[in-house]
Amino acid sequence: MTDNQQERVATVVTAVMDRIREVIVEHKVTYDEYAAAKQYAIALGEAGEWPLFGDVFFESTVERVDSEGREGSAGAIEGPYYIPDSPLLERPYVMPMRDDEPGDVLIFSGTVCGADGTPLADAQIEMWHSDNDGTYSGIPYPDDRQLPPPFNLRGRFTTDENGRFEVRTIIPVPYEIPKGGPTGALLRAAGWHAFRPAHLHCITSAPGYASLTSQLYFDEDPYIDSDIASAVKPELTLQLTKHDDAADLAARGLDRPYFSTSYEFRLPRA
Ligand SMILES: [Fe+2]
Repeated sequence: MTDNQQERVATVVTAVMDRIREVIVEHKVTYDEYAAAKQYAIALGEAGEWPLFGDVFFESTVERVDSEGREGSAGAIEGPYYIPDSPLLERPYVMPMRDDEPGDVLIFSGTVCGADGTPLADAQIEMWHSDNDGTYSGIPYPDDRQLPPPFNLRGRFTTDENGRFEVRTIIPVPYEIPKGGPTGALLRAAGWHAFRPAHLHCITSAPGYASLTSQLYFDEDPYIDSDIASAVKPELTLQLTKHDDAADLAARGLDRPYFSTSYEFRLPRA
């Protein structure tokens, strides 16, 4: 370890320890509470939940600090439910889904640009999101829920010559983080809910540009102001428009109203 690394460890760890001591003093933490905190730390480790605990309470702050000053669109945490090599879609783009996939139809469109606004042809968007039950495909959930088929609501598609894309999917719903272990026990003990607002995950990439990890939210979501992972950013929040014109629906081959929204991804240079 270099002197610089040693200094960095000493600086950050001292700051963490000082903050904890300040909390103990400020809130007059008792011996019983100290013992309970130690037991809690042991339980988190035994359950293998330190990564979950860290990602729920701290990762979004790391993402904000780490991306400060970066050009292009606001970024987001990747989250634990990404799976690589999802199907490459063909136009017109429709996310892989079951014939009777429950949920409101969403037409998501937009542009991929460089940070200076130049549209990027053949940029790739890799998208994944939950189904109408808040479940992701391909994830070994600890409960015995019904899993969608592999790669359901996971797909990759590219922009056209004008940097534009349009894909049909369903609107995801808010979902609870795994709450069966010590992390969930802490939420209950503090009287907090376990929900993340609904979101689309996207990783957007193009040659010569750094890839961009996004989470896109919906402005009327009941959990938009109380995300348990504190990851919502206003610039990543979309508005939905409802469409119910019969001719429009017929042209799109839809038998029920749909919603639309759009977003412009701006990629930083590599
Ligand atoms: Fe997610």
